[in-house]
Parts: sequence; C-alpha cells; structure tokens
Amino acid sequence: MSEMASPLKASLKLIAESEERYQLATYAKMNIALERGEGCWVWTSEGEKYLDLYGGHAVCATGHSHSMVVQALKDQADKILFYSNLVYSDVRAEAAERLVSIAPENLTKAFFCNSGSEANENAMRIARMATKREKVITFTGGFHGRTADAISATFLGKYRELGRPNVPHHISAEFGNAEQVRELADDETAAIMVEPIQSMAGVVEAKPEFFVELREVCNKYGIALIFDEVQTGIGRTGNWFFSGSEFAGGIEADIITLAKSLGSGIPVGACLVNESVARAIKTNDLGTTFGGGMFAMTAVTATLNAIEREDMIQNAKGIEGYLREQLKGFLNVTAVRGKGCLLGIEFRDNCKPIHQKLLENKIITGTSSDPNVLRLLPPLCVKREEIDLLIDVLK
Ligand SMILES: Cc1ncc(COP(=O)(O)O)c(C=O)c1O
Repeated sequence: MSEMASPLKASLKLIAESEERYQLATYAKMNIALERGEGCWVWTSEGEKYLDLYGGHAVCATGHSHSMVVQALKDQADKILFYSNLVYSDVRAEAAERLVSIAPENLTKAFFCNSGSEANENAMRIARMATKREKVITFTGGFHGRTADAISATFLGKYRELGRPNVPHHISAEFGNAEQVRELADDETAAIMVEPIQSMAGVVEAKPEFFVELREVCNKYGIALIFDEVQTGIGRTGNWFFSGSEFAGGIEADIITLAKSLGSGIPVGACLVNESVARAIKTNDLGTTFGGGMFAMTAVTATLNAIEREDMIQNAKGIEGYLREQLKGFLNVTAVRGKGCLLGIEFRDNCKPIHQKLLENKIITGTSSDPNVLRLLPPLCVKREEIDLLIDVLK
C-alpha cells in the first residue's frame, strides 16, 4: 500500500484494506479511520468530526490529547523514554507517590505494569503469594482480561472458553449474591476478585451491602479482596476509586487493579496493595520489562494532575445526573445504570440499530454483552452540551 507512504492522504478504503490484509482480526471495527482527537472529539482521515462518548474504549479519561498530558510527554521524550525497574527514576517515584496519595488509605504500595490483564494476573499472583493458597473466586458477568489467568477468571459469555485450557482453581459465584460467596469461600481461598460495576456485561451493579459482605467473608478466612478497577478507577464513577466509596459501602479492597484511564492512552497498568499484602512480596517475585518506564510514568502523573486541576471527577458526577434527567420520559429507555461516566442505557429492544444510527449521526458510543444496553464511557471532561447532542439524536 505505497499510497500510505505518500504525502497524499490515504482514503478510508485504502487504510481499511491495508489493516484487514496485514493484521489478524480483533474487534468488529466502525467504518472510520481516526487521525486526530481533542477533548471529546475525534477527526477521521476524511476530515469528518465525531463526538466520542466511548472515550477510546474507556481509556481517554482526560479527553483526547489533553494539552497537559501531551506537553509532559513531549518534555519527557526529550529526556529519556525508558529504563526499567533495574534503576531508580524521579518520574516513577513521583507517579507512585501521587497514585498512592489519592488511593484509599489502606493501599500503600504500587506495582506498575502495562495493561488491565497484566494488572489482574499480578493481583491474583500477589494474593496467592500472600495467602499461600490457590483458589480464586470471581463472578458471573465479570470481565478481567484475556491473558491465561485473567481469562480463566472471566465468567462472562464465551471468554473462558476462548482461553482454554484454563488455569485451575477458579470458581464463580453469582454477582450480587453474598450468600453464594459464603458457601464457596473457605480457608483455601486466596482471593475474591470482583469488577465492582460490570461494564461489559451491560453496566450491571450490586448493592453496597454486597461489597460489605464480601469484606466480611474475606476478613473471616484471611482472603485477599481484589477490586478490578480497570474501568471504575481514576475518577470514572465520580470518585477516584470505587474501593472506599459509598457505592462499596465504604469498605476497602486489599488490592485494586488499574489500567485504561491511568495513562490517558499511553499503555500502563497498576496494582495498588495494602501493607500486609506488600509484606509478602520480595525482590524478584514480580517483574515486567516495560512496567514503570519513564514515558508511561509521566503519563500517569500528568493524567492525575489534569483530572485534579480541571475538577473532572466532580464533572463526571454531574454528567450522570444530567444524563439521567435528560433521559426521563424516553418510553423505550427501560433503565439507566452505572455511575459517573460509566453508564449503560437499557432500551426495550436490541440497541444495535440505535448504536448504528448514532454513528451515522457522528456520535461514537459502545454496545455491551447485553444486546439492549448501550454503553457510554466518555472522557471525564465531557460537557453537558455534548450530552445534549446525544439526546437530540436519541429523540
Ligand atoms: C474490568 C476490566 N478488567 C480488565 C480488562 C483487561 O484490560 P486490558 O484490555 O488492558 O488487558 C478490561 C478490558 O476491557 C476490563 O474492562
């Protein structure tokens, strides 16, 4: 595809043909090629402008190419892009300190990696090391990633099957059913891992009491409670984290995992752990080549700074209320679920045609495993006027 190398703009058709030819299939793609982004807006290779209410797959919390993040990355790129955890680094020190400072009080140490799956793999490994046990309980409808242990912990749709042969000692309970957890948990259980708002399942929520009961079960048997906050973390629900929030009944997890929003689009994941878990980890127990590199660490600090400076967490809270208000009276909307900027609109019927119609009107949204639920995961800086554009089309 020599045209791609020419200064002339490649057409969508050429770009798509090239991608299909030279890559294995991943997701079913929208028929657009993106070139540029700013805030909640993205521009295609054909010069068209789309409103992105899916946030680049729940990643772009600070909006696309936030100026503070971009400037920090440019400055860092001029200094040094990467060195691993074999050396100390001022930017890694700053990112870890900053992340721990906003985390629930019990979480005192960070482990940096590169993705949500890797964060969950390590969280389960850390829990097994800390408890010297192997069994992990997760929940139907939860999604934890596609690496071996993470996919084995994912009891949603076809995923576990895709990951065969599965890692042993994974069992599942019904999300929201504490009684069942009590029956399954014992003194051979290393961890209970939960996606606190099940995004991919269709933005499915549990009551705060459920999390309180999970905490009680974990305390009783010395089990590590892991919150997979790959989607709910970094301000998305209107709190820095789900753990410790009123939605969790105020209880705190022993380990939380992060990725997606953490680097504004630069790949970075993390586990945050409490002191007693941290004590079990010795030099060389954990490792990763890329985790904690300077470029990614710069993205973490800049992301947290941008969210804080522009009060995006408060904005996310306000957006949820605004959207709920605007959707009142829509006869084919049967429920609005979720918190902050992690929202699911449940329609009476399959929402695929609505998703498609929105795309035709240049608004990007997401679907979910529930055919009736349209997902919104916009940047946390999304404006009410931008939500109005969605409402106008839905009307
Ligand atoms: C809740 C949750 N956990 C884990 C993952 C896996 O993250 P990654 O795709 O970065 O490996 C995802 C990805 O969608 C997720 O939504």
